[in-house]
Amino acid sequence: MWAGRSDGFVDSSADDFNSSIKFDKRMYAEDIKGSVCHAAMLGKQGIISADDAQLIINALGEILNDLDKGQLEFDPNAEDIHMFIEAELTKRIGDTGKRLHTARSRNDQVALDIRLYLSNEGEKIKRLILELIKVLTNKAKTHKGAIMPGYTHMQRAQPITFGHHLMAYVSMFMRDIGRIEDALMRMKQECPLGSCALSGTTYDTDRHMTASLLGFEKPCDNSLDGVSDRDFAIELCAAFATVMMHLSRFSEEIILWSSWEFKFIELDDAYSTGSSIMPQKKNPDMAELARGKTARVYGDLITLLTMLKGLPLAYNKDMQEDKEAIFDAVDTLKMTLRVFAPMVATMRPIEENMYRAAGKGFINATDCADYLVKKGLPFRSAYKITGQLVAYCIENSKVLETLSLEEYKRMSDLFEGDVYDAISLERAVNSRTSYGGTSLSSVERQIERAERFIRAFEEE
Ligand code: ARG
Repeated sequence: MWAGRSDGFVDSSADDFNSSIKFDKRMYAEDIKGSVCHAAMLGKQGIISADDAQLIINALGEILNDLDKGQLEFDPNAEDIHMFIEAELTKRIGDTGKRLHTARSRNDQVALDIRLYLSNEGEKIKRLILELIKVLTNKAKTHKGAIMPGYTHMQRAQPITFGHHLMAYVSMFMRDIGRIEDALMRMKQECPLGSCALSGTTYDTDRHMTASLLGFEKPCDNSLDGVSDRDFAIELCAAFATVMMHLSRFSEEIILWSSWEFKFIELDDAYSTGSSIMPQKKNPDMAELARGKTARVYGDLITLLTMLKGLPLAYNKDMQEDKEAIFDAVDTLKMTLRVFAPMVATMRPIEENMYRAAGKGFINATDCADYLVKKGLPFRSAYKITGQLVAYCIENSKVLETLSLEEYKRMSDLFEGDVYDAISLERAVNSRTSYGGTSLSSVERQIERAERFIRAFEEE
């Protein structure tokens, strides 16, 4: 390829160092798609003959087919996927193949390929997240009445339901889909193809044609920006890192919940492992790995940001490093989601244990205070009396439910027999009917909203 200027590398380690085919070969279909549209444009504009354009397009179609079927091997000695396809084309149709690279450069070609590749992968990842949303919503539906402790500062705070807890994650994952959509929308706005090496071209190209054939809104406004922009990869990777962060938070809860200290859930054997020396153990490895792999995706994001920091315009070879980072983020997220959804689908919530835990820790203290407020006491005074009750209980090894009415009355004569109903866990949960709250009716509304989201996504 470098004939005319250089003899090529004599040192094979320099060759290896420079080469990207081992990782950019996964963009072969996108590379061919870009080339087909470019050839069609060259033909239409009379930059190459219509016959040559057709010959190129047909041969590219055959190359695509052969690669899809595994009938053509990637040449490990090719510098990158762009060189490989072009060399293969020339091998098949001779000199006509050499006309394809008119009014184009690998700089705009690679900028296009990554966009096309990532927008496909982004769509697949959206679907995987939707699967998880479905699993969570169904689980929430089944357990919308299961009372568990809700925590702040990891201290038992107020009773909630397991359904409510799961729907919190549904809210996060719905936002994640939105974030990925935003990134994809911007990614498909401006087509870099035709920016050429950096400054555009002297040929009479039609960039609007290629942009629209390739599904973009328009060609990019500035050719220097076209070849050197990787914002779209950063934006998408940031969205992926956020999904991983959500998965990691959920993983942490799954890990805690499956411990003997909690035992709120039992993971299916298919998603946990034993220990080689401790027979009693069942480890939540999948959740731990999801938590651990979050670090990789953060690392990928930092790689992209750092790789671009301080890069002068326009293309610099540093940018070849974008691919392994963003590909790793794609692979890691897909792999994690594929395990996560069935792990959640098969986990068995142990409602009795959740309920028992909710009965401890004075989780209904707020409801006791609210009871007094409803009888006319200012909240701060009610808060104080309840605090004294809790202290009394701790001293006497009691809980609010087991205090006698007489003991209640000693603290305030506003207490009546109906206090027991007011501080019951069921009452505490089901009176929180505020929008987004934990009551059955509020959670049912959250589930309905999620189901509408799922339907709208699937109808798209
Ligand atoms: N393999 C290169 C990359 O991934 C393609 C672009 C190379 N352009 C160049 N002028 N060397 O960034």
